[in-house]
Amino acid sequence: MKSYNASKPELSLIVPTYNESENIGTLAERVHKSLSGYNYELIVVDDNSPDGTAELAKSLSSKYPVRVIVRTDERGLASAVVAGFKQAKGEILGVIDADLQHPPEFIPHLMKGVEQGADVAIASRYVNGGAIEGWTLKRKIISIGAKLPANVLLASARKIKDPLSGFFLFRKHLIEGTELSPIGYKILLEVLVKGKPSRVVEIPYTFKERERGKSNLTAKEQINYLKHLYRLSWYDGRIKRFLKFCVVGASGFGVNVGLLALFVEVAGMHKVWAQVPSYQISILTNFLFNEFWTFRDRRTPGSKSFLMRGVKFYLVSEIGWGINLGVYYLALDVAGIYYIVSQIIAIAVATLWNFFSNVLWTWRVKPAKEG
Ligand code: GDD
Ligand code: MN
Repeated sequence: MKSYNASKPELSLIVPTYNESENIGTLAERVHKSLSGYNYELIVVDDNSPDGTAELAKSLSSKYPVRVIVRTDERGLASAVVAGFKQAKGEILGVIDADLQHPPEFIPHLMKGVEQGADVAIASRYVNGGAIEGWTLKRKIISIGAKLPANVLLASARKIKDPLSGFFLFRKHLIEGTELSPIGYKILLEVLVKGKPSRVVEIPYTFKERERGKSNLTAKEQINYLKHLYRLSWYDGRIKRFLKFCVVGASGFGVNVGLLALFVEVAGMHKVWAQVPSYQISILTNFLFNEFWTFRDRRTPGSKSFLMRGVKFYLVSEIGWGINLGVYYLALDVAGIYYIVSQIIAIAVATLWNFFSNVLWTWRVKPAKEG
């Protein structure tokens, strides 16, 4: 007979629950069927639900490899999942909702993704073949609107189509030695940002409708999501990098004006011609500050790659200058905006262009070096 207390399961699946007594039995049964070929444990983390979910879950442990954690001092989906991670014995960790919106039959597909080398395998609504059952257009738009800031603010979530999925597996070593402290319910974001996986796969699935019970996620959770994003964006480092980039830009402005005065007043150059070297030199100082400060962690050795970055930075800056002019013209002449405001808008647009081009091109992370 197979022992359910296997000391070393390969997969630990965490189920956060709050008032899921109508679903937890079916969930355990379907998980067990779908994972028949695997040695796994199911860890239910219940926040002392008034409907008796925890007692019911405990009674399931005579039939299935179920363990139950009851928290009485804390509430919250993501923090419940973290409590489950801490007790997990498997090398692969997973998260699934109790309400069957995440079909348990899909777990083996995620398992294969990890077995084939992924650090994280996400059940994804937004890759080709993925779908959502029963959602109105309005809900879909809200969901996509909610994931966009995660894509932009977090380098770790940039290429992920469904970073807000609540159904995924990953290798435990990713989070060993890091403190997970999510606020709210987006546990995958926390794993992506702090675990820094190099290989992520997204596998399409259909997010089902909830059959029984009701969703626990309220408007307060939307606020928590924003707080969580804000906190993660500092951790992730992209905002810090952007601020450094702006400081360097401002220094370049200082260099440009200072040199212009020097060339005209001291060297006696023509006021128009003096503009040329002062502008070019400020691009050079900007490059050096960015190379040795803003992007120092992304430098690759060798004078050739250093020169290549210089050339790329130069090109980006020149195009940025063109964008600045173009936006200024559009704002001023076409939209009729006050000229100072027009220039502020133009600088903002050009700065975003410069920043993202340099992040994604000049100092891009080489995929081969990531692994
Ligand atoms: N322990 C615990 N504590 N569990 C909770 C809590 C809580 O405070 N709140 C919710 N849960 C459990 C639910 O019992 C369920 O198993 C799971 O977390 C998801 O909660 P739902 O209330 O069903 O959330 P949802 O369907 O609106 O959101 C789901 O889909 C989102 C994608 O649209 C979740 O999977 C989200 O993580 C996911 O982003
Ligand atoms: Mn749900």
